[in-house]
Amino acid sequence: MPKSTFDSAAIRNQFPSLKRKHNGHPMVFLDGPGGTQVPKSVVDAMVNYYSTSNANSHGAFVTAMETDDTIHGMREAMAAYLNAEGPECISIGQNMTTLNFSLARAMARILQPGDEVLITKLDHEANRGPWLTLREAGIDVREVNLLPNGTLDYDDFKEKINEHTRLVAMGMSSNCIGTVNDFKLARKLTYEYNAWLLLDAVHYAPHFAIDVQDIGCDFLLCSAYKFYGPHVGLLYAKPGTLDRIPTDRLRVAGQAAPESIETGTLNHAAIAGVKAAVDFIATFGKGKTLRDKITSAFDTIGKHEFELASYLYKKIKVLPGVTIVGQDFSKTTRTPTVSFTLKGKTPLQVCEHLAKKNICAWDGHFYAIRAIESLGLLEKGGVTRLGISIYNTKAEMDLVIAEIKKLTV
Ligand SMILES: Cc1ncc(COP(=O)(O)O)c(C=O)c1O
Repeated sequence: MPKSTFDSAAIRNQFPSLKRKHNGHPMVFLDGPGGTQVPKSVVDAMVNYYSTSNANSHGAFVTAMETDDTIHGMREAMAAYLNAEGPECISIGQNMTTLNFSLARAMARILQPGDEVLITKLDHEANRGPWLTLREAGIDVREVNLLPNGTLDYDDFKEKINEHTRLVAMGMSSNCIGTVNDFKLARKLTYEYNAWLLLDAVHYAPHFAIDVQDIGCDFLLCSAYKFYGPHVGLLYAKPGTLDRIPTDRLRVAGQAAPESIETGTLNHAAIAGVKAAVDFIATFGKGKTLRDKITSAFDTIGKHEFELASYLYKKIKVLPGVTIVGQDFSKTTRTPTVSFTLKGKTPLQVCEHLAKKNICAWDGHFYAIRAIESLGLLEKGGVTRLGISIYNTKAEMDLVIAEIKKLTV
């Protein structure tokens, strides 16, 4: 267990993959926005499920009942994670993209030609593609513009939302350049026009505490593999909302929320792992309830991640030929994700160089292709992205800074 003060060694010790060496050297994982490493407690929970309770759900025998408990326990943990009204607000899917496609397919059945949906140019395709399919049903899908500084154009947002808007689908933060969006303003505007607000929290949920009731969103999606868990997608739906949507469902399956959007047998072992991931995060916080621990944990996690990311940002920013893409770290709330381009090298070449030192970093558009395109970087190979997670250290930052420095001219 980590101590109350930040004990980096103790935290790192919990991650089996951090002990791995490749070509005799340790690994440096700066690929968190693509998926974080997993602590042993999460691995153990999955192994334990298969070792003791493996069964299908809703049976009269012990392992089936334990499976039901595993699923319910995870819904309760995620309800605490998001401050949802209860476990019945948490639906489970293969990943965020699949859940969002299911939602869009269902909404296509209730929206009418002439209705409008508002998406953004900053979002990951997983929160654009499903909604763009609604154009086939005569729905007008409009896009909020992206400004060159990497923030959404809220004047454009105000112009494009109107009395025909039925849904606004936007990210809480950009997996590509770390911008945190003004989702409270989005909520205010969607209330004014009586539209639904759906938030993509995939890149936000690993870094900040989320309170769905405080935000007042109707839907929120996230993915456990971005917050130290296994590959499972999660949907929060405000009480009453999912029940109003005609999702694809079998006659024999649950007809009400949260099951009504879940198709087939779920990944039970991974579900056990998601609960363990929430419990892992809670160990960084204090308080009586799981929810208290989670909110307090994000103060600790956020402080550590921000310190490292702002240090990395300041050191990289001044290197010759480096252009940071996105907002600076001093005044704004943003995620600990540093994206940049380097003169004379493509993002892929930068990542290939870093990989020789076992530094795992992503290049490209990370499926936020519209954002990279709008910023004029698509033809240039996008950006190099360095994402900070709870297990990263200052020594790792110094290593990556030194390696990028070697590439500068
Ligand atoms: C912001 C954002 N939204 C959505 C997704 C898609 O999530 P999933 O892989 O669970 O479908 C990702 C994945 O990288 C993401 O970063």
